[in-house]
Amino acid sequence: MKEDTDIIHSHFFKCQSDFFEISKSINEMYQNKNLLWFNRFDINVSPVSRNFFEQFPKINQLIDDFECNTYAIFKFDPNTCYGWHVDNAERAYALNMLIEGYGSSYTFVGDKIKDRTNEDFSNVREVPYEANKFVLLDVNSYHTIYNLDKPRYLLTISFPASNLDFNKICEYLIKNNI
Ligand SMILES: [Fe+2]
Repeated sequence: MKEDTDIIHSHFFKCQSDFFEISKSINEMYQNKNLLWFNRFDINVSPVSRNFFEQFPKINQLIDDFECNTYAIFKFDPNTCYGWHVDNAERAYALNMLIEGYGSSYTFVGDKIKDRTNEDFSNVREVPYEANKFVLLDVNSYHTIYNLDKPRYLLTISFPASNLDFNKICEYLIKNNI
């Protein structure tokens, strides 16, 4: 049985609705060998057009309501680790869907322990990605990703830096059945 803490955590919020069509479409998009990739912060990034979301009214409305400004597929190579970090100042939160990498890719959040000389963290939890479901991640808090023997593909929708409250977005996601 799942505990509430598996769904709501101070650094992430697990959404409950199934968006199979989004997952399927994104998968088809990156299977297309002509997709353009570029490197940003050592991640392979391929932008998704704003128009793509018009066929998904709830997500389309969310993008408008929160003025989300970036939508992209992130690709991570197998057998890599993206170390503990916070994202750049331009993005406060990310609405993520793990498309591929189940059983081989693990994302963790944690709190950096003050006054330690090395990188020690407390409150470490795995981000509970589940097929076809979104997870809202506070990317201003520390997170790290371990990719084992398979590539990892992630759809990410960025919320711009603002005074937006994490809990307010969670409330919106619940209210709008996302
Ligand atoms: Fe990040």
